[in-house]
Amino acid sequence: MARKKLIAGNWKMYKTMAEAVRFAEEFTGIYGGGDHEVAICAPFTQLAVLKAAFAGSDVKLGAQNMHFEEEGAYTGEISPAMLTEIGVDYVVIGHSERRQYFAETDETVNKKVKKAFAHGLAPIMCVGEVLEQRDEGVHFDVVKTQVEGGISGLREGDVKRLVIAYEPVWAIGTGRTATGDQAEEMCAFIREVVRSISGDEAAEGLRVQYGGSVKPANAIELMTKGNIDGALVGGASLVPADFKAIIEY
Ligand code: PGA
Repeated sequence: MARKKLIAGNWKMYKTMAEAVRFAEEFTGIYGGGDHEVAICAPFTQLAVLKAAFAGSDVKLGAQNMHFEEEGAYTGEISPAMLTEIGVDYVVIGHSERRQYFAETDETVNKKVKKAFAHGLAPIMCVGEVLEQRDEGVHFDVVKTQVEGGISGLREGDVKRLVIAYEPVWAIGTGRTATGDQAEEMCAFIREVVRSISGDEAAEGLRVQYGGSVKPANAIELMTKGNIDGALVGGASLVPADFKAIIEY
């Protein structure tokens, strides 16, 4: 069975509510749907307005983080139930910026991935090496450790529904993209790591995205590879015409 590509925008800490609504109006005005799944992962405060603004369109909604506990005294955090109440479909877990600035580890990523599945949310679990690790030639080891840690203890049926975003940290927001061959090589490797742990069905169902300076100009090179099942798009997802051009590479 062919995997449906997921092209997801990751807005990071950009856009006010008014700007988010303007994006949704403009985007749904120019994009009428297609073969791929499309999602916008927005800041928490934009999710409810976007849910309404995207109603009637095929655009799915994602959050960029959540806590792994059900509820509790965790000032400033957001629980999975708070997201499902809004009708969020996806949640980005373990983005490199969260690993770097907010002390996320493979262990917290694993707890969050499990909790997301328990609530019917589909996690987009991010992995990727930093530049020194690639230069030293340990990038496969680094990504393998992140994948193994992230999916540890997951049921095979859940792994099948998982999205893993391979985002080499050196390509994020730098304008320096991995080549199609570099991205394909790592995405194929991730699928084999998953196969060795969770079996064939999970590995074939799993979607592996590439992320890191995806733009309209390089989308075709990346999205036509056999093991790349979509993209996690930062900067270029903030502009409706650019995001549409990537989706329609
Ligand atoms: P970028 O970000 O497309 O701006 O490089 C990608 C990401 O961080 O998900």
